[in-house]
Formats: sequence, C-alpha cells, structure tokens
Amino acid sequence: MSAPGLNRAVNICCIGAGYVGGPTMAMIASQCPQHRVTVVDVDQGRIDAWNRGPLPIFEPGLEELVAGCRGRNLFFTTQVDAAIRAAEIIFLAVNTPTKSFGVGAGRAADLQYLESCARRIGAVAEGRKIVVEKSTVPVRTAAAVQAILAAHAGRASFEVLSNPEFLAEGSAVADLRQPDRVLIGSERTASGEAAAEVLASVYAGWVPRDRILTTNLWSSELSKLAANAFLAQRISSINAISALCEATGADVQEIAHAVGRDARIGSRFLQASVGFGGSCFQKDILNLVYLCQHFGLPEVAAYWQQVVALNDYQKQRFARRLVEALFGTAANKRIAVLGFAFKKDTNDTRETPAIAVCRDLLVERAQLAIYDPRVSAGRIEADLAPWLDLGGHIEVCKDPYAAAAQAHAVAVLTEWDEFRSLDLERVYAGMLKPAVLFDGRNVIDLAAARRLGFQLHAIGRAVPEPRLGGATR
Ligand SMILES: NC(=O)c1ccc[n+]([C@@H]2O[C@H](COP(=O)([O-])OP(=O)(O)OC[C@H]3O[C@@H](n4cnc5c(N)ncnc54)[C@H](O)[C@@H]3O)[C@@H](O)[C@H]2O)c1
Repeated sequence: MSAPGLNRAVNICCIGAGYVGGPTMAMIASQCPQHRVTVVDVDQGRIDAWNRGPLPIFEPGLEELVAGCRGRNLFFTTQVDAAIRAAEIIFLAVNTPTKSFGVGAGRAADLQYLESCARRIGAVAEGRKIVVEKSTVPVRTAAAVQAILAAHAGRASFEVLSNPEFLAEGSAVADLRQPDRVLIGSERTASGEAAAEVLASVYAGWVPRDRILTTNLWSSELSKLAANAFLAQRISSINAISALCEATGADVQEIAHAVGRDARIGSRFLQASVGFGGSCFQKDILNLVYLCQHFGLPEVAAYWQQVVALNDYQKQRFARRLVEALFGTAANKRIAVLGFAFKKDTNDTRETPAIAVCRDLLVERAQLAIYDPRVSAGRIEADLAPWLDLGGHIEVCKDPYAAAAQAHAVAVLTEWDEFRSLDLERVYAGMLKPAVLFDGRNVIDLAAARRLGFQLHAIGRAVPEPRLGGATR
C-alpha cells in the first residue's frame, strides 16, 4: 500500500450517514474533488433526505457544502456492499450508544452496529482495504475489528486505523474545515504506518500537515474519550461553582471571567448552564468509567462518574427551583419552555437537558408550551412521550411569544441567539403574574427583565427579588 501523492484519486466509502458521517464526508468531497466519496446507510429515509433535502440534520453551512459536491464526487446510497467493494478507504461512522441491556448496561458502549459493519466488510470486500474507526469507541476496539475482519476475510486484507472525530455539533462545518487537529492511530508496523499515511494524505488536501497527528491505535482511541471527558468536566466544574454562587451571592459569570483569564485555564467552555447534553459527553464518560472499572481502577472510575452525577444534579436542581418558585406546585400551570435542542445551532435533542427538565415538570403535572426554532414538533413529542400520561400536557408552539402567552413561568433551556434579543416586554405582557423567568443559559438581559417586573432566576447569579407589589427600578 504505497503512500499516494496528493493528487491520486482515492475511492472512499463511509458507513453511517449521521451527524458525523454526512458532514465529514461532505468536507472531504468538497476539499478534494479528485476523490470519490460514497456515504451509505441502512436508513432509506436518511439517505433520501441527504439526496433530496431537507437534509436530515441542521448545521450552519452544511446545505451549501453538500450542494457543492453532491452528484459530482459525493454520493449517498443504501447500496452498502457495492460501495464497500469499490472503496480503498472505508470509514465506520455508525452509532455507538450506551448499552441498555446485559453486561455493562448503562455504562459500556454498544458496539453491535460497528461489529455488524466489520462483518459485512469482511464478507464482501476484495483486495486491500483501509478500515477507519471514525465512531467513538472504547480503547482496544480496533483489535476486535481486526479480529472480525481477519476471521471473515476471503479475498481481502485489511489495515485498521483509528481516526476519531472531534467536531462539535452546531459548528461542525467550521470545525471540519479548520480542525484543531486530525488524529490518526495505527499499528506501529510498516503496513500500518503506510495506511496511516494514505489517510493523512487525504486530510492533507486541506489540513496543514502539522495538525495531522499520528499515534498508536490505543492512544488514538483513548484520546477521544479523554477529550470528551475533559470538556464535560469543565462544564460540571463551572456548574458546581454555580450552585455555590447561588448560595453565597457570588456571580458565576464574573468568576468564569476571572478564572478564565488565567492562561493555564483559558476562557472557553466555562459557561454555567442547566447542564450539558448531546449524544456524546455522557455516553463517552460512562464508557470511560466502565473501562476504568474493567481494568481494576475504581478510584479513577469514581472520579469521572462524578462529572455525570454533577450534571444530573444540575438538571434536577433547575426543575426543583422552578417548582419552588411556583409556590411548590406546577400542577396545571402553563410553563413556556424556550429551546429544546441540547445546544444552539443544531436540531439534535439527544440527551438534551430539556428532556430531563420537561420530564420533572410533567411528573409535577405541568402544562408545557415548548418552542424551538429547529427541532420538529414530532421530535419533541417523541422525546417526551414516556411522561405524557402522568397528568401533564405539552403543546409545541410556533414562536416564543405564543409559548409564553398566559404562562406562569418561562424557562430558557437552549442558548439560541434569538433568545438574547427576545422582546421581554411582550413576553411579560402576555404572562400571568407574578411572571417567573428562569434563565438556564444566562442569555437574558437580567437588568432589563428586572425592570419589567419579572421574578428572575438565573444559573449561578444572584438576582435581587423584585419589590413586593411591582417592578424594581
Ligand atoms: N454527533 C457528534 O457530535 C459526534 C462527534 C464526534 C464523534 N461522534 C461519534 O460518531 C459516531 C456516529 O455518531 P452520529 O452522531 O453521527 O450517529 P448517528 O446516529 O447520527 O448516525 C449513525 C448512522 O449509522 C447508521 N448505521 C448504523 N448501523 C449501520 C449499518 N450496519 N450499516 C449502515 N448504516 C448503519 C444509522 O442508520 C445512522 O444513520 C458515534 O460513535 C459518536 O459517538 C459523534
């Protein structure tokens, strides 16, 4: 397998047309017109959406990126076997959720989708193939992939690489265009390093060489889990401080600013909030915890487990404070929920804190009026379905003002830019009084809200009570 010059055309297949496979392959196709990139999935609906639109996922800039190369050198299809046969490089970008049954349930990664891809590749591949783990996997998964491929290989030989994806949802296109780093792990053998060089050459089509890092397989696999654990730990750390701020009168934003000015700490990822969400942080930390337990490191496992425990505490604390502000009962009270996605600029609701908060409010039999600019009504209803027969109710609204009309409380749960410029006067005018406003993302202009007369609650910020009988001025 000789390392190509940058201009040699490479046939690439990616199994999994999700949040990672779709955008990542669109970026390769867009930056490297000489390569032919085929994204395959078993989900016909998803493939149809990639081909005909609207795209199955929302990311700023993604529509333009896909439109620029789809049908030219970027293809979406359910013809998995043909794409495997034709490809020199096969990315595995399938889901690796937390196991929900059996050994390791609730912590270990469920690798059944990855394994079935490896079996399929082994069954149909011919010739020399580079199989790339793009999915986030437990350390040493490459050995299992290699073993499955070897057991099935008839007319093929394989090199397995690890190439974890570090994009963040909401900024995936920008992250892929200018990644902080691309990480490629390989076996430290001549053929392993040659395969890593082929993949590095593809990325070198637009990523500076000094940002393409190569490591051994296990370091690469574990780096992804470690990176997500560090990121989530920062959020849980500032959220832990936010609880202490509320108890003491300190302001978490002032603290984040002061702490973040220390160059050793840095200012990014220090926004206190209702909690982190998304498909990755919790599952990857739980996976790390499971690995630590498996390898006989209970103290290390307990350390990382606490990052998830603190996040659960933060979400529960938010719902509890909201109910307390409603005089201890939310039953039959209309509560406007602004934002349902786990962060702004995505339509992804996996592990969104909004589900946990809405669940706790539905258990209290609240009437929820939910608005999100990008999440469909069907998605919201499906996510909350398990708690809909407890006496609560949900209504999905077309804008924040409709949601807030006749509401006892408004809770901001996603930091969408449009919530920063809400017409607070209009929101306040439509609400029942006292009008309670819970800012779970610290995006509301508290001074303006206070002047209007809202009863305010924010994360980690001391908010003076309005004077009895009216607005504080
Ligand atoms: N979402 C993120 O921000 C992100 C970031 C970095 C890494 N990751 C990791 O990347 C991986 C994929 O994540 P995602 O968010 O894109 O998942 P996703 O659920 O959006 O997409 C996975 C796709 O794989 C398809 N699939 C499953 N089994 C298949 C099979 N046997 N053959 C063909 N298609 C199959 C599914 O139908 C689905 O469309 C996960 O391991 C995740 O942890 C995700």
